[in-house]
Amino acid sequence: MSKTVVVIGSQWGDEGKGKITNFLSEQADFVVRYQGGDNAGHTIKFDGVTYKLHLIPSGVFNPNIKNILGNGMVINPINALKEIEDLKKQGFPCNNLYISDRANVIMNYHMELDALKEESLGTGKIGTTKKGIGPTYTDKTSREGIRVIDFISEDFPKLYKEKLAIKNEIIEKMGGTPIDYDSSVKEYLEIAKKIKPYVTDTVVLLNKGIKEGKKVVFEGAQGALLDVDFGSYPFVTSSNPTSGGACTGSGVGPTKLDEIIGVVKAYSTRVGSGVFPTEFEDDISRDIRERAHEYGTTTKRPRRIGWLDCVVLKYSAMINGMTGISLMLLDILSGLDTIKLCCAYKLDGEYIDYIPADNNLLERCEPVYLEMDGWKENITDVKSFKELPRNAQKYIEKIEELIEVKVKIFSVGPDKIQTIVRENIF
Ligand code: GDP
Ligand code: IMO
Ligand code: MG
Repeated sequence: MSKTVVVIGSQWGDEGKGKITNFLSEQADFVVRYQGGDNAGHTIKFDGVTYKLHLIPSGVFNPNIKNILGNGMVINPINALKEIEDLKKQGFPCNNLYISDRANVIMNYHMELDALKEESLGTGKIGTTKKGIGPTYTDKTSREGIRVIDFISEDFPKLYKEKLAIKNEIIEKMGGTPIDYDSSVKEYLEIAKKIKPYVTDTVVLLNKGIKEGKKVVFEGAQGALLDVDFGSYPFVTSSNPTSGGACTGSGVGPTKLDEIIGVVKAYSTRVGSGVFPTEFEDDISRDIRERAHEYGTTTKRPRRIGWLDCVVLKYSAMINGMTGISLMLLDILSGLDTIKLCCAYKLDGEYIDYIPADNNLLERCEPVYLEMDGWKENITDVKSFKELPRNAQKYIEKIEELIEVKVKIFSVGPDKIQTIVRENIF
């Protein structure tokens, strides 16, 4: 029987989605990215080697797995090709990649506009990755985008010329340098030739696979609190990383989704601007940042650090319909005397357990903490829940109690082998 598992980020991204997707993919036939683009940075470690992926799904290392870049993605073809070339150099032929003909293309002008917009916002900037994500989704929704199928068609030069003329006017108005058509179209035509063999109708391919009983992992990018509908708008990305996005971004209907695994970092991190209620900056957060290398995979920016926020996680569990949690980076909390867990917010003297849509209210929310005793032991070699120090077990149990979702997997190090399954997913 077919089974589909959606792996989603439960917080602000960088929870370890790449690691868990890659781990689960060993039992799967398909891995599908369904939204976002190369704003994502997914780290995978196996056989002692670390790989960083931005656009390519995390099942690419296994030639028997079909890896799909779904229609809901925005794809920079230049960067896609670079990533493919890099993987080939490392011994992975990438014959198992399928790019949706319906995905929208991130063009050079989208990147330029992303950077100019951020500059114009000054201190109010979103802190985007400047990969052109927002402007590309804007064009998609306003029906002015270029899809992959258009990019590889012979009409592309004409289409690009028309669109570039309009965008160059805006670029100039915003103080940027217009993009030269002649040189850029030449480069794009070369790229299109190389991308074409990967392009297919992934909706048909994937649904045929599901009908045949194949197993599928959907690999979310970003996280629930960066979702354009549910995050702290406007400090969000421009897509739906939440589980609903897996349907619209791949062409698989909601009745076909079996399991939703929320990837949860054992504490919180955020890159970019926006409210972050449990954020703190002291020796402990600096120590966490260094030990866990909390620097953006895509932008190298230091990630902001906070305690685990169960208000956020409950909300995330609700909007995603989470059926299980994969708890990551538990090893990083080893050595702390106490670990704080936010279980509610205090807003103007009242306790609340939801996230207000009004950012002014959210900014006034003070986290209410539960303090738990920490553990001193190094847990990076632990192979089962039973082997964990009692206080680490209690931390996991408290999370399950507060979120009302079972921790089915936990992770004690970046390597694939440092993954413990408490309940089988496939
Ligand atoms: P993603 O964007 O959700 O795929 O996550 P990133 O790759 O951006 O960030 C997660 C970071 O944590 C990466 O550097 C991983 O190698 C690392 N990582 C994942 N799981 C663990 C873990 O259990 N322990 C430790 N120490 N590092 C982990
Ligand atoms: P993964 O998949 C963490 C953040 C940016 C910024 C906001 C909008 O690795 O978890 P964008 O470029 O998308 O318009 O930026 O979203 N952001 C991420 N933060 N992990 C990511 O991806 C992110 N992708 C975007 O920092 O705050
Ligand atoms: Mg990341």
